[in-house]
Amino acid sequence: MEKVKIENVELILSHPDNLNIKWTGQNDLVRQIMAAWHTISEDDIPLNPRIVGKPGAGKTTLSYYAAKELLKREVYIFQCTVDTRPEDLIIIPVISENNQISYHASSLVSAMIKGGVAILDEGNRMSEKTWASLAPLLDDRRYVESVIAGIKIKAHPDFRIIVTMNDDASTFELPEYIHSRLQPTIELPFPDVKEEYDILKMNIPFADEEILKITVGFLQKSHINKSSFSVRDGINMARYAMKLYKSETTKDKETAFLLALKSVLGEEGIKILSTNNDEKY
Ligand SMILES: Nc1ncnc2c1ncn2[C@@H]1O[C@H](COP(=O)(O)OP(=O)(O)OP(=O)(O)O)[C@@H](O)[C@H]1O
Ligand SMILES: [Mg+2]
Repeated sequence: MEKVKIENVELILSHPDNLNIKWTGQNDLVRQIMAAWHTISEDDIPLNPRIVGKPGAGKTTLSYYAAKELLKREVYIFQCTVDTRPEDLIIIPVISENNQISYHASSLVSAMIKGGVAILDEGNRMSEKTWASLAPLLDDRRYVESVIAGIKIKAHPDFRIIVTMNDDASTFELPEYIHSRLQPTIELPFPDVKEEYDILKMNIPFADEEILKITVGFLQKSHINKSSFSVRDGINMARYAMKLYKSETTKDKETAFLLALKSVLGEEGIKILSTNNDEKY
């Protein structure tokens, strides 16, 4: 456990996240993130990009890839939920065995101290009250205050932050002063046929060509029909179809795909499959 002292208070830091994440395609989006993080001179500050897209579109993967593989920094992911309180984001007191209080820095604060990258994942699930505690971090002040530990923590100059947000309805409307601090907004669209094929191939390299192609065809059809099935659904379906086929549960690949589609996406998936607009792609 790494410890640091700030204003005489000892903090226990969180570990960075080491994930085996790969990214293919949509390089313009990666470049936009890197540009937002770039600082031009000593008196410049980095921006705090916000990645917006449908569930399962690749927002977390894109953020992690940019931070870890391109910026080459340690990455600290903070999973935001409706129950996240301001102190969860900053410093949490923990009572240890001998009744001593120890202070645990959140992954966000650990990234701030170490000069890593914080991904605030699914930031739109967090309430305005919790977001308010980050206002000074997200402008040129670049610090947070911990009421619990009674200290102010300044971000390391190398610290960067990125926020992912779903554009579904089950979320908080954030106030303007938070929106204006989370810029630029980078929209993650659904990938095109070739990109979608490459993504599936990268994530399930052992998958059979025919199953991959049927899955990509289905996903593209679903995008045309404005359905929200994502590449993650595609990966799950193709993976399950492969298992059904290889374990000889089904006799051919097409049947394996159909069964996987039904099990993973249910009736809505079958409905998309039976729409008749393949000619559009
Ligand atoms: N361009 C890409 N290259 C490689 N893999 C990708 C790409 N886009 C998506 N994926 C894969 O798709 C899956 C879903 O991605 P991810 O979890 O990043 O989506 P998300 O938008 O963060 O979803 P959620 O809204 O549920 O948090 C992952 O398995 C990821 O590896
Ligand atoms: Mg995500």
